[in-house]
Amino acid sequence: MTSTPEETPILQTVEISRAFGGFRAVDGASISIGRGDVVALIGPNGAGKTTLFNVISRLLPPTSGQLLFEGADVTHTSPQRLARMGIGRTFQDVRLFDTMTAWDNIAVFAQTEASGTLRSGLLSPRAVGREAKRVRARVDETLDYAGLSPVAATVAGELSFAQQKKVAIARCLAQQARLMLLDEPASGLDAVEREDVAKIIEKLSSDGVTILLVEHNMDIVREVAHRAIFLAEGKIVGEDAPDRLLASSELAEIYFGHLRAETSTT
Ligand SMILES: Nc1ncnc2c1ncn2[C@@H]1O[C@H](COP(=O)(O)OP(=O)(O)OP(=O)(O)O)[C@@H](O)[C@H]1O
Ligand SMILES: [Mg+2]
Repeated sequence: MTSTPEETPILQTVEISRAFGGFRAVDGASISIGRGDVVALIGPNGAGKTTLFNVISRLLPPTSGQLLFEGADVTHTSPQRLARMGIGRTFQDVRLFDTMTAWDNIAVFAQTEASGTLRSGLLSPRAVGREAKRVRARVDETLDYAGLSPVAATVAGELSFAQQKKVAIARCLAQQARLMLLDEPASGLDAVEREDVAKIIEKLSSDGVTILLVEHNMDIVREVAHRAIFLAEGKIVGEDAPDRLLASSELAEIYFGHLRAETSTT
């Protein structure tokens, strides 16, 4: 390999699969995400999008295939280590600590890299104090970045859904993730809130964060994504600029045909 670090994709999955029993939720999916990309992973309900995120963040080990982060094989790396290496993620169902404040929810993630050192007891009291100050400053900056400073002291369970989703993104930022996997960041939000989230995604991107997002709202996909990857029944069936991919009648039929089938059975 002669590629320079800049040319190495930040993330690659090579023929990655994840089965549940005999069912392949992700089936030989190969994707490559360049540094600074904003890529949307789209596809009908049950296509395997969240499962692929779970495999990339290693919450689920793949059944087969290979996972590379910044060129290094991380197929067998723990989720905690991957988080420290720079992969952050949000969840479709948000998953904040509901009884903790927005500030504390973010602080938990800001401490990821520091806490191991603190626990090891190798730092002098002065160094511990400096580290704590640095973490506090990072949490404050992160809240400010996401427009959450006014609700810093509000417990997460009392935040609006949109604010909760922003805290989830802010946690990735506090963790200093270079690659963020955002699972439906705009779902359940109104038009104004969606625009707000789109702006945060664009700001993260312009600050050098690579983003892979799952999203059913195609306005958001068109607005923020440079590229879209279409997943159906666990397989990659299309990849292109969002406008071109969404113009495909074949993929529209897979997407909307699926929605029609769901509507008629509910
Ligand atoms: N832990 C699991 N055990 C068994 N089957 C699972 C598990 N997780 C997901 N599946 C199945 O794998 C398939 C893909 O699910 P997944 O949640 O990845 O879809 P998705 O593309 O994220 O869908 P949506 O758009 O509805 O969120 C579905 O058929 C789902 O029922
Ligand atoms: Mg999903």
